[in-house]
Formats: sequence, C-alpha cells, structure tokens
Amino acid sequence: MIKTATFIKSAADKSGWIEDNMPEICFVGRSNVGKSTFINAITNQNKLAKTSSTPGKTRLLNFFEINKGEFRIVDAPGYGYAKVNINQKVAFGQMMDDYLTTRPNLVGVCMLVDMRHDPTNDDKEMYNFFKEVGLKVLIIGTKLDKLKKNDILKNEKKIKQIINFDEHDTFLKVSNTSKTNINLVYNLLVQLLNE
Ligand code: GTP
Ligand code: MG
Repeated sequence: MIKTATFIKSAADKSGWIEDNMPEICFVGRSNVGKSTFINAITNQNKLAKTSSTPGKTRLLNFFEINKGEFRIVDAPGYGYAKVNINQKVAFGQMMDDYLTTRPNLVGVCMLVDMRHDPTNDDKEMYNFFKEVGLKVLIIGTKLDKLKKNDILKNEKKIKQIINFDEHDTFLKVSNTSKTNINLVYNLLVQLLNE
C-alpha cells in the first residue's frame, strides 16, 4: 500500500526534472477528469495535489515520491482545455511531448478517462501514442459514482471500443469521491513498474 507520499517539486520543462534512477508513472488525461483528485485518493491525503472544479488547474508537472523512494508519480496538466491561449497550448504540448518521449525514468502511464463520456480524439491519439512507443498503460475510468448502474458496463465497452483498447492493459473503474476500487490501485501501479 501507499504509506507515504511527499510532494517533491514542480517543473515547467526539462531543466526541472530530477536526475536519478527512480522510476516514474505519469498521470495523464483530459482536463477535469480527476487526475489530481485521484492522486489524493490513492495517497489518502486531501491536499497533496491541487484540485479544482474548473478545468485547467494543474499547469506544471508535479513530482510526488511514494513510500520513501519506491517510485514517483507525476501529476500532469490535462489536455483538451479550450480556455488556454495558443502560446500556453504550444508550451504545454512541448512540455508533455518532451516528458513522454525523452524521460528515461518514465516506465508507465496511468491514463484517466471520465466514465460518463466518450473519449475524445485527444484521448484516442494519446492512447495510440503510448501503444506505438510501447509504454504500459493503466486506464482509470473516473466518476463511477455519477453513473447509473445500467450504464457502467455499456460505457466501459464503448470507451474501450473508441480508443481501441489493448486487452493486455488494465482498465479499472473508480470513484474518487466514494473511494470505490481505490484500494486496488497500488498493486496495479506496482504491476506497471514490474512488467
Ligand atoms: P486538470 O488539473 O485541470 O487537468 O484537472 P484534473 O484532471 O486534475 O481534475 P481534478 O482532480 O482537479 O478534478 C476535477 C473535478 O472533478 C473536481 O471538482 C473533483 O472534485 C471532481 N472529481 C474528481 N474525481 C471524481 C469522482 O470520482 N467523482 C466525482 N463525482 N467527482 C470527481
Ligand atoms: Mg489536475
């Protein structure tokens, strides 16, 4: 389980990355899907990662150390947020591109999708990219508490079909607010690290 989680630093670009051999798992997904809230849920800390009901809250890469050196998780800004200007979009794209293509410490990604909605083109491209470069992906379907029982399996199926889900990956449905399945996450992260 996650016993300790500590914020280490934020970085706007390569110069802010940490130089060591600690493995990292990056958390990606559209703005407002609940990446930061999920990090708080799995670490059992209310205010470790900053969250907001309006999209675009996370603007930098934020590095958190888990279990005193076991691994790091990296909270990233969401994509698909319309209200940022073009310069911010370019800077964000560059920052993520750099990190996802050249970071030696990156061993896996945790991609979050909102269980209520169909994945967007951005989601599809992101997942495709991970598959092309051979990165292992753990998909987390968030906001399970907002779904009617009848829609749960239906939506999961649709999401998988739209992103062309690779059955070797894991898809876990969670609720950050009611904490459904949050207890299963640590083992899946460790699996991602050891695969
Ligand atoms: P950016 O930093 O903008 O990319 O967003 P984010 O993906 O980090 O989202 P954040 O964690 O800030 O959460 C966005 C909103 O969704 C907040 O109002 C959260 O309380 C809410 N939220 C997150 N997870 C859940 C969930 O599982 N269920 C419900 N009902 N709300 C959630
Ligand atoms: Mg965030």
